[in-house]
Amino acid sequence: MSAPALRPFLPADTPILAAIFVASVEALTGDDYSESQQEAWAAAVDDEAVFGQRLASQLTLVATLDGVPVGFASLKGKDHIDYVYVHPGAVGQGVAAALCDALEKLAAARGAKSLTVDASDNAAEFFVKRGYEAQQRNTVSLNGEWLANTTMQKPLGENAGGQK
Ligand SMILES: CC(C)(COP(=O)(O)OP(=O)(O)OC[C@H]1O[C@@H](n2cnc3c(N)ncnc32)[C@H](O)[C@@H]1OP(=O)(O)O)[C@@H](O)C(=O)NCCC(=O)NCCS
Repeated sequence: MSAPALRPFLPADTPILAAIFVASVEALTGDDYSESQQEAWAAAVDDEAVFGQRLASQLTLVATLDGVPVGFASLKGKDHIDYVYVHPGAVGQGVAAALCDALEKLAAARGAKSLTVDASDNAAEFFVKRGYEAQQRNTVSLNGEWLANTTMQKPLGENAGGQK
């Protein structure tokens, strides 16, 4: 099994990242969210121009396996993880871990003392393993549905606990 490689996002990646987002939401979130919540969530990338602009406005990294994009993650500002999505066919191979390792280093390099993420319920355990702690519970309105998530925070640099 080859290790994931990372590279910066290019505008031409937008359609494949939208497809990864939809496949990931459809296949990996069903234990914690209803079908109508999943549909509302997946519809967030229906407008690819808006999605592409949001990716371009953040520090977005694309993970590839054998040159093929299989996941992506983004840093908003210096201290908030916005996206972390891995294609269901590539989960369990350290793709999200590689993406988060890189974003945590980049956030520290930007001067962030800690990093936050609004973690979906299915992903909360992934972030706990990396040293993130729950701060607050949120309910967000998305395309007519209410979805719960948890703001989680990890100290960076010399304050850091957890895995890295
Ligand atoms: C959560 C997600 C990003 C994890 O991606 P992944 O590439 O499979 O994660 P990794 O292979 O890098 O896993 C790293 C570690 O976390 C663990 N892990 C991964 N996903 C997990 C989950 N859902 N629950 C508990 N542990 C998880 C792995 O077992 C691994 O543990 P190890 O280091 O002890 O071996 C992926 O399942 C996903 O895209 N989910 C749907 C979209 C989503 O909810 N994104 C988050 C939005 S905030």
